Amino acid sequence: MATYIPFILFFVVFSTFFSAINTKFSEQSPLTITMKGMEKKTGLHFYFHDISSGKNRTSTTIAQPLNMTATASFFGSTSRADVLLREGPEPTSKLVGRALGIYAFASQHNAVLLMVMNFAFVDGIYNGSSLSILGRKAIFDIVREMPVVGGSGVFRLARGYALEKTFSFNLKAGVAVIEYNVSVVHF
Ligand SMILES: *[C@@H]1O[C@H](CO)[C@@H](O)[C@H](O)[C@H]1NC(C)=O
Ligand SMILES: *[C@@H]1O[C@H](CO)[C@@H](O)[C@H](O)[C@H]1NC(C)=O
Ligand SMILES: *[C@@H]1O[C@H](CO)[C@@H](O)[C@H](O)[C@H]1NC(C)=O
Ligand SMILES: *[C@@H]1O[C@H](CO)[C@@H](O)[C@H](O)[C@H]1NC(C)=O
Repeated sequence: MATYIPFILFFVVFSTFFSAINTKFSEQSPLTITMKGMEKKTGLHFYFHDISSGKNRTSTTIAQPLNMTATASFFGSTSRADVLLREGPEPTSKLVGRALGIYAFASQHNAVLLMVMNFAFVDGIYNGSSLSILGRKAIFDIVREMPVVGGSGVFRLARGYALEKTFSFNLKAGVAVIEYNVSVVHF
């Protein structure tokens, strides 16, 4: 019997190290084991539901250039955002977080935004944790990539990247649904 103990111990330790969380919203897997702990890689998939007009708008312009008829008319235009993040593209889909921040037209030549966002999550083990995004978003690119520069809670010391792609855009209603895949490494 005694000879089995190391195996049992090994199995317990092994299965603890390699236990992962897998749901529709997130996928987590162990990466490297350091002296301080185990570094994990988490992939998140969700939809950003932005409403830019009407009563329930989730983003609004807070500053605009004085002369909107000049060539680079939007250059400098700045908006604040409190946008809902949902598990799916439907407006009734489960809320997983909010994107809180500001974005500004940062180029005199192209439709390029400076994005400064905290993705504050409310779902499951991610409730209360956040990821900070600081990046460049070329509006007309099919896929936009932005760096994840940090995080809090379960995402402490996070680094990674976010990829986003427009799922649907209704100009009349001012509703944009954007699909996100976020990959982060954290402790
Ligand atoms: C705004 O949100 C409220 C509450 O969810 C909803 O009842 C209402 O229909 C929405 N209005 C519009 C214009 O979408
Ligand atoms: C605004 O920009 C246009 C185009 O550059 C220019 O013709 C116009 O005089 C400007 N108006 C003001 C008030 O600066
Ligand atoms: C998230 O945490 C807050 C504060 O602890 C709590 O009030 C809320 O019910 C939690 N939400 C979910 C979806 O677990
Ligand atoms: C996210 O990942 C899924 C599955 O790999 C893929 O189908 C989808 O196109 C990706 N979307 C983005 C915006 O990267």
